[in-house]
Amino acid sequence: QVFKLEDYRPSDYLIPAIDMAFALAPDATRVVATLTVERRQGVAAGTPLLLDGDELKLVRVEIDGKPLKEAAYAVTPDQLTILAPPAARFSLTIETEVNPSANSALMGLYRSNGVYCTQCEAEGFRRITYFLDRPDILSVYTVRIEAPKAEAPLLLSNGNPVRHGELAGGRHFAEWHDPFPKPSYLFALVAGDLGRLADEFTTMSGRKVELGIYVEHGKEALASYAMDALKRSMTWDEEKFGREYDLDVFNIVAVSDFNMGAMENKGLNIFNDKYVLADQQTATDADFANIEAIIAHEYFHNWTGNRITCRDWFQLCLKEGLTVYRDHEFSADQRSRPVKRIAEVRTLRAHQFPEDQGPLAHPVRPRRYREINNFYTATVYEKGSEVVRMIRTILGAEMFRAGMDLYFERHDGDAATIDDFLKVFEDVSGQDLSQFALWYHQAGTPHVTVSSAYNASTHEFTLEIEQSSPPTPSESRKRLMHIPLAFGLVGPDGEDLAFGEVSGATVEDGVLHLHKRRQTVVFKGLSERPVLSLNRGFSAPITLSLEQKPEDRIFLAGNDGDAFSRWQAFNTLLTDALIAGFRRMLGNRQPEFAASLGELAGRIAANASLEPAFRALALTLPAEADIAREIGKGIDPDAIFAAREALARSIATVNEEGFRQLYAELNSDGPFRPDADGAGRRALRNVLLDYLALLPGGAEFAALHFASATNMTDRAAGLTALAHRHAGTPQAVDALARFENEYSSDALVMDKWFLIQASAPGPAALDTVRGLTAHPAFSIGNPNRVRSLIGTFAGANQTGFHRADGEGYRFFAETVLEVEKRNPQVAARLATAMRSWRSLEPVRQGKAREALVSILKVEKLSADLKDIIERTLA
Ligand code: ARG
Ligand code: ZN
Repeated sequence: QVFKLEDYRPSDYLIPAIDMAFALAPDATRVVATLTVERRQGVAAGTPLLLDGDELKLVRVEIDGKPLKEAAYAVTPDQLTILAPPAARFSLTIETEVNPSANSALMGLYRSNGVYCTQCEAEGFRRITYFLDRPDILSVYTVRIEAPKAEAPLLLSNGNPVRHGELAGGRHFAEWHDPFPKPSYLFALVAGDLGRLADEFTTMSGRKVELGIYVEHGKEALASYAMDALKRSMTWDEEKFGREYDLDVFNIVAVSDFNMGAMENKGLNIFNDKYVLADQQTATDADFANIEAIIAHEYFHNWTGNRITCRDWFQLCLKEGLTVYRDHEFSADQRSRPVKRIAEVRTLRAHQFPEDQGPLAHPVRPRRYREINNFYTATVYEKGSEVVRMIRTILGAEMFRAGMDLYFERHDGDAATIDDFLKVFEDVSGQDLSQFALWYHQAGTPHVTVSSAYNASTHEFTLEIEQSSPPTPSESRKRLMHIPLAFGLVGPDGEDLAFGEVSGATVEDGVLHLHKRRQTVVFKGLSERPVLSLNRGFSAPITLSLEQKPEDRIFLAGNDGDAFSRWQAFNTLLTDALIAGFRRMLGNRQPEFAASLGELAGRIAANASLEPAFRALALTLPAEADIAREIGKGIDPDAIFAAREALARSIATVNEEGFRQLYAELNSDGPFRPDADGAGRRALRNVLLDYLALLPGGAEFAALHFASATNMTDRAAGLTALAHRHAGTPQAVDALARFENEYSSDALVMDKWFLIQASAPGPAALDTVRGLTAHPAFSIGNPNRVRSLIGTFAGANQTGFHRADGEGYRFFAETVLEVEKRNPQVAARLATAMRSWRSLEPVRQGKAREALVSILKVEKLSADLKDIIERTLA
């Protein structure tokens, strides 16, 4: 079944309130839901009421307290139809029975490590009871939970606690009430025996909020960083967006089986424990940063998602793109803005660009879907965030804030659309955003080509600019976009040059606005030749071909006033060198690299005026997948690997002395801090380790790094250097064994051990990964384990997964089907690893295709997996 945006129509009935009573039992939980149902104005009396279900078992159904005659309804596991509802308003009681223990799809009500929990977004509520399971049905929830006290001393749901008490037979109950009408996807319930980290927060208007983070007993201290991040998020949203929390309690629960990162259920966020639990010994700096960002993300949803939700799932980016934008800004404010921006752009290019440039491309606001779970994508989230960022770039910070204020004022309590969102910015600014709106509606990464010329006698600097958008599935013809390009004309001293009149484009506050296919932009009054710095801060998510001399790029890398552009300039130099190296490899020649590149790397490394985190990012070579994406087609991952390896060796060789010295200097003995500064120093030191590990004695060097590490960031970096660069050496074998031994009972740390081995380059990784699927710490039913071992291998091991003999693909097909039996959503996500298969060279392409086709041949494929594979092959 295909769902289409244009088919949206309001429901015939509304459900202003719902009372639920859960009698929890592992295999047979009873759910009694009493719905207040109202026929919408203008709908004919007697119109059937169709409620969604998914694998449900109906026990009884009553209207206004009286059992319904069999002839009055029709029921299947997927639907309950009340054939002729009796009145304009009535109460409908539905009792269902569900089996949480057997729920391996982790949607609806399930058990994770003995804890009952729920995941309802997008369509999991219908696996609990029959309902109008769509986001524009907003209801006030009252929830009663009953369970054996020994098994589940903790009983949580959304909203505020109302009462709790003891019952006969060792049972007890708790009642919760959420005064804010909400869609069913925000419903949540948790019950079990968990430890609690408690804190409190006083909001800007003086309301006291009790904060609780619930984790496995004994792990409370590991939640303290998450708690700190939560309080910082609450303050930040008050300060930056004027948004205050609105309930008496805010609870977060960490569970160890979770399909995604986390979920913003009203007043009761549920998290993958990977994004809650952390300390110096078990979590890396990247883990800490992720925890901070995801805690903030889910908290920010309280306003952008919960108070204002989505009319339908085509509008998913209304809450996700906007909330990602908000969490990005939060992290930028808490850490280093330029470093955060570079990291965001790297993520966007690594995940969203290939999606947008391949068979799974879709608009930020899609028009059709078969399975909504497959649209929680980098495009909806990350590009969705970039689109919001562009609105701010176009309107300016103040006008953007005014628009957001109007959005909250106008739409609080609504199920809104992207059109509503754009309208508030048009209304506050008076600007017409209709061309801009294409960023939401048109798939594909726009491409901009630019050449420049300076005329010394007229003092004019001229840009020839052309935009185009490549065709994407079901959109062969593209319309022209409004592309805001932040820029500077950099003078010889590194300062931006002032210019006079500009013709050919609107230029405002350092932003050049493209609206047409071709624009010739002339800057007057420049007495010297400027160096063009374009798309500063990555103001528009485009690909850019900028004709520019290497000397100019080297100049920008050292002197551009915009830190992102400095990074970009150096990164472009590296990428160009790597592509040239790849081509030489294909021609059976050894790659050669200009000495200037290595020298520039050395200068950046040693430049104490740059923050260490920035230097670390600059010195990180483009990943194999980045290089592949830039090359575009005919990809031979082995040749890319060889070229990259050769460049890394040449940079290491040229800079050996400087790198060793800097590495030693960065060896700080102070207390561990997971903040931007501490993380930045470790990042730089670990990048240097990567280079030094390539030189003679590298295995010993990395082994020492590993053995002397006092935190997980350094330990994991040491292990990676050994397992990736010195596989099979006694040092590598020993470090892997020590690590395994030390952490065998810590599942989240074992994920790192799986990940490091799954990403080891070369054809041997396949056998390693196959072997590890039998490791006692691995479990095919746990999403985190699957992602760290299988997801990493298929998604991040270019040479191992894309083995020329196609064995990687065969293993992949086999494993995806194995995962699918239990969890279709996780299997479908795994399968997206094949999205760029058409850019491979012909032999690998053929084998990849065979593997995809073999999946489609399986009978009774889930809607989730079928959708991904069919679109990938189309
Ligand atoms: N809304 C959640 C978040 O981004 C993600 C939930 C995704 N769930 C799903 N079934 N795809 O914070
Ligand atoms: Zn979200």
